[in-house]
Amino acid sequence: MERLSQKNAPIYEALEEFRKMRVVPFDVPGHKRGRGNPELVALLGEKCVGMDVNSMKPLDNLCHPVSVIRDAEYLAAEAFGAANAFLMVGGTTSAVQTMVLAVAKRGDKIILPRNVHRSVMCAMVLCGAVPVYVNPECNERLGIPLGMSLEGVRRAIRENPDAKAIFVNNPTYYGICSDLRGIVKLAHEAGMYCLADEAHGTHFYFGDGLPVSAMAAGADMAAVSMHKSGGSLTQSSFLLTGPGVSEGYVRQIINLTQTTSASYLLLSSLDISRRNLALRGREAFSGVSAMAEYARREINAIGGYYAFSKELCNGDSVYDFDVTKLSVNTLDVGLAGIEVYELLRDEYDIQIEFGDLGNMLAYISIGDRQRDIERLVSALSEVRRRFGKTRVALMSQEYIEPQVAVSPQDAFYAPKEMLPLDATVGRVCSEFVMCYPPGIPVLAPGERITEPVLDYIRYAKQKGCSMTGPEDPDIERLNVLSISGGM
Ligand SMILES: Cc1ncc(COP(=O)(O)O)c(C=O)c1O
Repeated sequence: MERLSQKNAPIYEALEEFRKMRVVPFDVPGHKRGRGNPELVALLGEKCVGMDVNSMKPLDNLCHPVSVIRDAEYLAAEAFGAANAFLMVGGTTSAVQTMVLAVAKRGDKIILPRNVHRSVMCAMVLCGAVPVYVNPECNERLGIPLGMSLEGVRRAIRENPDAKAIFVNNPTYYGICSDLRGIVKLAHEAGMYCLADEAHGTHFYFGDGLPVSAMAAGADMAAVSMHKSGGSLTQSSFLLTGPGVSEGYVRQIINLTQTTSASYLLLSSLDISRRNLALRGREAFSGVSAMAEYARREINAIGGYYAFSKELCNGDSVYDFDVTKLSVNTLDVGLAGIEVYELLRDEYDIQIEFGDLGNMLAYISIGDRQRDIERLVSALSEVRRRFGKTRVALMSQEYIEPQVAVSPQDAFYAPKEMLPLDATVGRVCSEFVMCYPPGIPVLAPGERITEPVLDYIRYAKQKGCSMTGPEDPDIERLNVLSISGGM
């Protein structure tokens, strides 16, 4: 391994070597370097389809890596300060699911905040784990859930000493971080794992003045979206593990659901993006932070908008804030976040990451330019001038305390019936309902349906949030348990 350094990209280098060998393909994929599908070549280019090859000896195999993929994983682990790293081709969803499936089986408890991504709850449906929620505090002005307080985690541990793990968002979609070091300490003292969803925290590993990364905080596993702030191709991610986690067992868990035909486009993109971050990440992310800070100042100067930042920090439920996140509260402009999101796209050809009822998020990354930031700022100023209203009758509450009646798996597979929304109050839901993005469930299988939840769903639909999850795509009806029962 000594011959390798962070300047290497072993998978990419092996692909380049392989290309020069001009091997005659009598294997899959059947497009045979694009020859069988000229339209695909026209779309993606010869180089790209030529690299779309199958696992073979010189290129290793993701299911059981022994050479170049192994080397790429070693370099990724080194770059991120992890004991082991796994290249993931099923998105961060697959990394999150691996974390949950690796620590919990049917009936095992996991302590977590309610504002987790759907992938966490889906993993619980798959393995039968049971959620124990630490209800996050909510910021009244912004209407957003904050991080988990240490006292909340302590209480959850006290009441559930048999829980297997504590799951933490590092950071939330809006950029809010809990006291991860403190939570890791509490978890380990109680003999529990600490798992971190770092879908929005890849850059923490390469930033100065950014919140602590999961591996630096001593967490046991972290799901890292390289394809978000790390710059790799969509769907490629890393799973990082600490020294207390068995590499071989995690590989077995990954292989329960992972494809046997991993895309070399995704694998090589992970490889060269890791190299880029290891060599140039610090400089790049200090530029990203500076751009986001500039945008925040300019947006706050417009009036009405509130681009929030570290002033939210309170030493506990907002322990730290990721300054690269350009999260903006829009309610004082008299518009819901989702309305600003739509206006920016429809009137100004600007696509932002998401808008919810009270906030919007513009994703600033290594690919942004100062002139694009100026365009966003001036579009927001115009949105206020042309469409702004007074702040009346806008719903801002994003967090509704869930009432868990049945485990997600039991609810999902239980006998059920489909009822019109209005007739579901008091019943136990057997499916997910969420706005996407951000993909945080409004309702998860096993939760009791209450009037505030239904109000939220109706309001979000009326405001144009893209809602997903239920079997009925129009979300006029919901599946509920036919016979409700306890856990
Ligand atoms: C917090 C969080 N976790 C996990 C995921 C899943 O990531 P992916 O879309 O790469 O599967 C997302 C996606 O947006 C997310 O926001």
